[in-house]
Amino acid sequence: MTSASRNTNRVVSGMRPTGPLHLGHLHGVLNNWTRLQLEYECYFFVADWHALTTHYEDPADISTHTWQTVIDWLAAGVNPDQATLFIQSRVPEHAELHLLLSMVTPLGWLERVPTYKDQQEMLREKDLATYGFLGYPLLQSADILIYRAAKVPVGEDQVAHVELTREVARRFNHLFGREHGFEQKAEKAVRKLGAKNGKIYAQARKRYQEQGDAGALEIGRALLDPHPNLTVADRERLLGYLEGGGRSILEEPESLLTPVPKMPGLDGQKMSKSYGNAIHLREDADSVAKKLKTMQTDPARVRRTDPGDPEKCPVWGLHKVYSDNETRNWVQKGCTTAGIGCLDCKKPLIEKIQAELDPIRERGEQYEQSPDLVRNLIATGNEKARDEARDTLVDVRAAMGLR
Ligand code: TRP
Ligand code: SF4
Repeated sequence: MTSASRNTNRVVSGMRPTGPLHLGHLHGVLNNWTRLQLEYECYFFVADWHALTTHYEDPADISTHTWQTVIDWLAAGVNPDQATLFIQSRVPEHAELHLLLSMVTPLGWLERVPTYKDQQEMLREKDLATYGFLGYPLLQSADILIYRAAKVPVGEDQVAHVELTREVARRFNHLFGREHGFEQKAEKAVRKLGAKNGKIYAQARKRYQEQGDAGALEIGRALLDPHPNLTVADRERLLGYLEGGGRSILEEPESLLTPVPKMPGLDGQKMSKSYGNAIHLREDADSVAKKLKTMQTDPARVRRTDPGDPEKCPVWGLHKVYSDNETRNWVQKGCTTAGIGCLDCKKPLIEKIQAELDPIRERGEQYEQSPDLVRNLIATGNEKARDEARDTLVDVRAAMGLR
């Protein structure tokens, strides 16, 4: 089996709708997405079913949070003309693939996913001894595999889920092998190359398969790269046919781990909605300024004349994200000698953060004023995603005897 059916340029990622997004999301996820959308074919979705796996007791919040999340993405610069934005539950094919994958996924694989035990511990007030909670990493596998994506941008905590996804894909391909009617489909695709190129392809394939001629392989590949008459699926078939493999049905994705700066919250813990220490992306300027002005500092600096230690101060954590060397040196010196006060120290930060949030608030406001626009662009994204998802399911159903 080759890895020919992978969409090497495709990225998929999802985010739970848990409430307004904050600076941690901006630096940890969204700035990465807005870079990726320039380079890759991106599918970004709101994982509303995933939210239900842990928040099934407050379903009323889910749809509010879903729209809020979409507007936060758009406000942060995720561009619906560059990336496909959609809502998981509007593409029910994810659920069908989840079900079908569940037939072949050993329970032990799910029980061993680190987040399973960790989250149950962390969210002890919730009853997470549910079928949905155990299965959610597999739902995530379905989310990814259904788009035959090559890359999945995730945080450290999600790498194990991508690893599970790879194992599930491997097992599926092992059990159900290549797609039904592969040879006929490949021959039909050869004809789409036209008489002349079809002949060159057939000769190259023969030379490669009979004599292992690497040059012939190159010639064959070059013919397919990108070809106006070929669909992605046909191109994959022809690559597989050329190399002597099949077209594998599900493709193993890779995690795309990008280093992200640590974003301290107002109290020095990691910025998080559940700690109530966050600055939200569309929070109004006065509230942002007030939060920063009253943000915790080194407790040793009781009076203006008391020297402090930036290492003991959450404000310093923000300087590490936002400030240049010159400013940082100024902070170090001023803090430890009591040369500057904490408000002086915060001033350049407040300016930086307001300047970062200004365009986000402005774009957010525009989208907030145009709910129809947002609804329409999501409807378009849903349809586009569904088309892709349906294609994969045709192959999956056939492979599993459901024709
Ligand atoms: N499980 C992820 C989270 O909790 C969200 C998610 C769902 C996801 N499906 C995905 C991420 C697919 C990447 C790819 O953050
Ligand atoms: Fe923190 Fe800056 Fe005050 Fe030092 S001067 S304690 S780094 S806010």
